[in-house]
Amino acid sequence: MRTTLLLASASPALAACPYAYYTLNTPNHATFTETLETDFTLPNPSLIWTSAPGLAWQAQAYNVTPAAARGPYGKTAQVGNVLLNPQSQGLDLWVRSQVLEGLVPIAEVVTARNDILCGSFRAGLRTTGTNGTCGAFFFYHDDSHEIDMEVLSRQRAPGNNTLNLVLQSPASSSAGFNAAGTPGFTPYALSFDPAAAFHEYRYDWLPGRVDMYVDGAWLHSFHDGVPDSPGAVHLIHWSNGDPGWSGGPLGEDAVLTVSYVPAYFNASGGASACLGDDGGAVSEVCEIPVDGPAAQPSVRPLSASATGAAGPTSISTHSGAGRSARRSSRTFVYALLLLRFPEQW
Ligand SMILES: *[C@@H]1O[C@H](CO)[C@@H](O)[C@H](O)[C@H]1NC(C)=O
Ligand SMILES: *[C@@H]1O[C@H](CO)[C@@H](O)[C@H](O)[C@H]1NC(C)=O
Ligand SMILES: *[C@@H]1O[C@H](CO)[C@@H](O)[C@H](O)[C@H]1NC(C)=O
Repeated sequence: MRTTLLLASASPALAACPYAYYTLNTPNHATFTETLETDFTLPNPSLIWTSAPGLAWQAQAYNVTPAAARGPYGKTAQVGNVLLNPQSQGLDLWVRSQVLEGLVPIAEVVTARNDILCGSFRAGLRTTGTNGTCGAFFFYHDDSHEIDMEVLSRQRAPGNNTLNLVLQSPASSSAGFNAAGTPGFTPYALSFDPAAAFHEYRYDWLPGRVDMYVDGAWLHSFHDGVPDSPGAVHLIHWSNGDPGWSGGPLGEDAVLTVSYVPAYFNASGGASACLGDDGGAVSEVCEIPVDGPAAQPSVRPLSASATGAAGPTSISTHSGAGRSARRSSRTFVYALLLLRFPEQW
């Protein structure tokens, strides 16, 4: 059994598991066959993955028009906005203040694997203090099968920093990708400023349920609209100037830093799939470490209606509009560029 303690504020000890299986014991039991543990703080960012060859993360390059992005501005995801932090604190995802021909330069990284099906996913994140962006850690199959944890930098206020928990489901897509009126949207007030330090954000996706945590403390469980199809894990930092969601445009460049991402999951296409609790049938397993500074619940729920009539107009448009635009817009330019690290690092 591993006794590794993960600290969101520091580089986690991501030790190799000698066995092929990982087990989750809290609060629900589940076994997973795959792992992807990436520590972006390593001076030598040997992007660690133990079950899949090749590059684990891919920096994205694409354009979304203002119309498709449903904002005053569009978005241009650029590989050059994904940078290792100069102080080795992680991977920096930049949103630039200078709009380029109507598009806000943004940053996104996605796992190379898109066969991810169920799992426990964690990310150490320090969001930006610059008003006008959306930072999100999410699983994506398609616009109506998506698990999302989002921080809007415009929603920073002492004692009322908001974390938005979102499931994009068929219900939200039929509402114009607005999850606000569906059970899939739940804002929480964090007790801390997410831009001041690293904290660990986590979602456990199991058959028929998604459980969400911050710093090891349980926040919320979704039981409706839970994805059942494979996809990839994404980290994005974006803005389209929408006053109802991302806010912006920016007065200065804004950075969100990702310190690490440990993920334990099953994959589609093999024997594993997303079946549910196997009753502990597998004996030689590594226990997925309990998250770091677990302890007191660090959040309180905000009622969804508390976001008000002037609230979000298009929640999670980083995925909803952006990705549907990718598939439908003729102006969409997609070039998948690999995130490469120079050998000498
Ligand atoms: C961000 O800017 C918007 C628009 O000016 C403002 O309403 C909001 O209060 C600001 N948020 C913060 C955290 O400063
Ligand atoms: C993952 O796959 C393993 C191997 O098939 C299986 O024992 C386990 O139950 C699966 N986990 C989930 C959550 O379905
Ligand atoms: C707390 O934040 C939420 C969402 O950002 C907002 O709707 C609500 O009005 C805020 N509450 C207070 C007391 O400022």
